[in-house]
Amino acid sequence: MNTSIMAQTKRDGVLAVHSLDEHVFCVPNLDEARAFYTAFGLDVRNHGDGLALYAHNNPQRYARLIKGEKKRLLWLSFGVYAEDYERFVQLIESQGIERIASPDPESPLGLWIRSNDGFPVQIKVAPKSSPSSPSPRVYEPESNGQGRAPASSRAPRVLPLYLSHTLVFTKSVSQSLDFYSGVLGLQLSDSSGEDPMAIAFMHSPHGSDHHLLAFLISDDYGFHHSSWAVNSIDQVGLGMKQMNEAGHTYGWGVGRHVLGSNYFRYTRDPWGSYVEYSYDIDFVAHDIKWPAKNHPPPDSFYLWGPDVPEGFGTNFEAQH
Ligand SMILES: [Fe+2]
Repeated sequence: MNTSIMAQTKRDGVLAVHSLDEHVFCVPNLDEARAFYTAFGLDVRNHGDGLALYAHNNPQRYARLIKGEKKRLLWLSFGVYAEDYERFVQLIESQGIERIASPDPESPLGLWIRSNDGFPVQIKVAPKSSPSSPSPRVYEPESNGQGRAPASSRAPRVLPLYLSHTLVFTKSVSQSLDFYSGVLGLQLSDSSGEDPMAIAFMHSPHGSDHHLLAFLISDDYGFHHSSWAVNSIDQVGLGMKQMNEAGHTYGWGVGRHVLGSNYFRYTRDPWGSYVEYSYDIDFVAHDIKWPAKNHPPPDSFYLWGPDVPEGFGTNFEAQH
């Protein structure tokens, strides 16, 4: 683990969450989930009656999966610095936002509210798990008289380093921007589409990737994908191969996004949402101001890559 990535940077004078500490959702089959995320390269652990997702050699618990009838986003927990917690309590009180009972038996107290879409959101004191420096970039040495690519059989297994971001569906991207900036202090990085806004990306002013949370328009909320950092474009390609060999061939990429600039490969999970291998995403340091812009959709989705596959933007959690 590169410790500089996990440093605890802070922008003074700004009240904001520093991390998406954990995302929690239910799935109908935990055995399938274990096999899927293990194949992806995560450290999947038993946790109570469910599962917990970690990156290898990294103490952060990024996600929990609970058994349910169908896949459904349950709640998001955001991490704040200890010295900011009471200020969040006061902010929520002063805005007249109702506190709700905890849906999490593991965390029965604490600060729980409803998002603009209606699902629970927790604000809690936690170590900063969003990166505090750009993701690592590993280049191979010069060839020095011999070929640099290893034999296929010697390619290393891809083990993502940490969670970069998640993307969730929302009924209103602009209302999500209002909620996550006005209550949680996240800041807009970039957006696309107008009337209605189709997608938006938010970072933490305390330093994070270009987005630690993003929103895609739908007719209900839902979980679209989690994105995990790897340290080379080779790892993105090898990750695709790793998932293909495990039988998970449906996905998108390899390609490169415009907004965020990262190289990607998405693989569809058994429930129609995705995991993403992400390399070289833009980083927004705690001491810079990112110039948020709205971009025309056809010009901002991806720089290169295969055509977007059928159903990529479909919210399978929505009731139709
Ligand atoms: Fe992503």
